[in-house]
This record gives sequence, structure tokens and C-alpha cells, in this order.
Amino acid sequence: MAQASQRLLVVGATGSIGRPVVIAGLAEGYAVRALVRDARRARLPARVELAVGDLTRAQTLRDVVADVDAVVFTHGSNVRPPGPEAVDYGAVRNVLLALDGQRPRIALMTAISTTDRKGAHDWKRRGERLIRASGLDHTIVRPGWFDYNDADQRRLVMLQGDSRQTGTPRDGVIARDQLALVLVRSLRSDAARGKTFELVAEHGPEQPDYDTVFGPLEADAPGTLDGARDTPNMPLADEPAQVIADLERIRAIFKGPARV
Ligand SMILES: NC(=O)c1ccc[n+]([C@@H]2O[C@H](COP(=O)([O-])OP(=O)(O)OC[C@H]3O[C@@H](n4cnc5c(N)ncnc54)[C@H](OP(=O)(O)O)[C@@H]3O)[C@@H](O)[C@H]2O)c1
Repeated sequence: MAQASQRLLVVGATGSIGRPVVIAGLAEGYAVRALVRDARRARLPARVELAVGDLTRAQTLRDVVADVDAVVFTHGSNVRPPGPEAVDYGAVRNVLLALDGQRPRIALMTAISTTDRKGAHDWKRRGERLIRASGLDHTIVRPGWFDYNDADQRRLVMLQGDSRQTGTPRDGVIARDQLALVLVRSLRSDAARGKTFELVAEHGPEQPDYDTVFGPLEADAPGTLDGARDTPNMPLADEPAQVIADLERIRAIFKGPARV
């Protein structure tokens, strides 16, 4: 159980994964702060501290991130503007900039097949890269498809290499509440530190101790931008100049690993 004084910031707290993360955070003993765009529409438990901000505007996030011990990112863009660059990627960059050297533990949710280079996922992968470049203690969770799991499909499976890329639920499925708990429990797990994995569930009961599932995974190599066993199909030299500049800025602020 986390100490009562530990403050967890939930990014995307009003979303379909953010809400169960808020509940899981409270259940695990955190003081939960929820980043919301509109406090009147938030409809979160009364003990949750609401912090109003817009992920696409870094200047609104300074107070939101003050004195946080941990951050779970569950935000996501939809098809309407401002889109994945501003939201999926911009949220990570802007929160890191607002942290300005504070060093909370991070759990970032992206998606299975983040490395497929089909376009839509590239901004999620760039967000992952910012987290690794910061050198902050992190766990990056790439979930399978939500809402396709059977009731008895609760055995957690954590994969690496991101090789399931059909773009359909055949790539794997996961329940939202279980994903939320994996994100929250990763925050105080030594076994999950520095690791990136795809998360799905198979038929069977849930493992009682998540560390037994985190433990065998390979950690991201310090100083590398991609997750352990990822295909190296996004060369830094081909990346947009602004993305390279963001990586350098984040690394400088957090004094992250030199070799990114
Ligand atoms: N569906 C799947 O099977 C699946 C599988 C793997 C990964 N994913 C990924 O999961 C992600 C999240 O999905 P979801 O279903 O939880 O989405 P969601 O319910 O739409 O939640 C998105 C959250 O992000 C927040 N947000 C968006 N833009 C913001 C901004 N500018 N400032 C502050 N907050 C902002 C939303 O706040 P508001 O309430 O204010 O809008 C909301 O809390 C998506 O990116 C998706 O790619 C989905």
C-alpha cells in the first residue's frame, strides 16, 4: 500500500481508462489528483483533487504537476482536431516540461502495435521516447483491445517486441479495470521499473502478484529511445526537427541518459 502522503496525478482522468485508474489509485492508498478540462463535468469521487488544465497548453499545467510523486498517463486523442501530435505526443511533452526537473515515477499507456509505422501510432511512440529520454523511472504499457475480453480472460500476459500488428482484436484483448490496476501497481514495483511491454489477457485467473509477471521482462536499455526488443524502424535522423529538439530539451531538463 502506498503511503497516504504519496500524490498520484492521473492524466486523462475523465477517460475510459483514466476513471478506473483514479479508482485503483484511491484503492492503493494514493492521494489522487485528476487533471480535468472542466471541473463541473468531471464526476469523480469527492476525495479526488481536481486540477484544471489543457494538455495541449503547457502553461496551464504548472500547478497541475506541483508536488506529484507519480503520474499515470491515460489520455488519448480522437479523430477530431487537435489530433495525435497535439494530444498523444503533446501531452507527454507538456507535462514533462511543466515538471521542470521534478522526478515522479511515470506510467504511460500507449497501445499495442505502437511501432507499426502505419502513421496513427507514430505520435504515441514519440511520446514513449520522450519518457525514456527523460531518464525518469517509468513503465510503458501498450494495451491490447478494450472490451473484447471474455469474463474469464484474466490471466495477464506481458509481451515485448510489439510483433502483433494486425490492427484487430486478434492482437490481444484486455479489460479496462485490469489495465488500470497494472498501470497503478507498476508505480511502486521494482520489477516494473524501466520496462515497456504489450499487455493482453488470456483465459484463466489473474496472477495474485503482478511482480511475477513484470519480473521476467527485459528493461529498456538506458540511453536508447525504443523499448526493449522493439524493431528499430524509426531512425532518429529521419524524425521531424521539432521532435529531435523536444528530445534534446527534455534530456537537458532531466539530465537524462546522454546517448539518445
Ligand atoms: N480502444 C481500444 O481498444 C484501445 C486499445 C489500446 C489503446 N487505446 C488507446 O487508449 C487511448 C485512450 O482511450 P480512452 O478510450 O480511454 O479515451 P477517452 O475515454 O476518450 O479518454 C481520453 C482522455 O483524454 C483527455 N484529454 C484529451 N484531450 C485532452 C486535453 N487537450 N487536455 C486534457 N485532457 C484531454 C480526455 O478528457 P475530456 O474528458 O476532457 O475529453 C479524456 O479524459 C486512446 O489514445 C487509444 O488509442 C485504445
